[in-house]
Amino acid sequence: MIAIGSDHGGYALKCELVKHLAEQGVELVDCGCNGETADYPDIAEKVCAKVAGGECEKAILICGTGIGISMSANKIKGIRAALCTDEYSAKFTRLHNDANVLCMGGRVVGGGLACNIADVFLSTEFEGGRHAVRVDKMMKLEGK
Ligand code: RB5
Repeated sequence: MIAIGSDHGGYALKCELVKHLAEQGVELVDCGCNGETADYPDIAEKVCAKVAGGECEKAILICGTGIGISMSANKIKGIRAALCTDEYSAKFTRLHNDANVLCMGGRVVGGGLACNIADVFLSTEFEGGRHAVRVDKMMKLEGK
């Protein structure tokens, strides 16, 4: 189960992603917005609660740039949010960082690229090993 959410700046791209992912049989929980003005920290909080609480395995967040919503998501305990604008970063943030939230900018990436980025992110497994040691160290920085 994948949670997805956007503010108004990411709404159009979220609609494209929801359609694309649903066509591939990905089970989605759409946490809004529905086109109205929304503050990106509120959407990040709502979506990340689903990941931190274990209801969803991963999530996708979109705002205008992807920056505000990724900064907000990374304030939440247990969240490793990665802002991606290319497939290479999406692949390696899963392999090496075990990112559990993908962030994108609706005013930055086009729909075709965003769908490819999401596909790579959702289909790539964490490599573990030496990277697990680093991710553990990263998570220990929470609350410092
Ligand atoms: C909203 O206009 C815009 O500020 C927001 O979507 C995002 O880009 C913030 O980082």
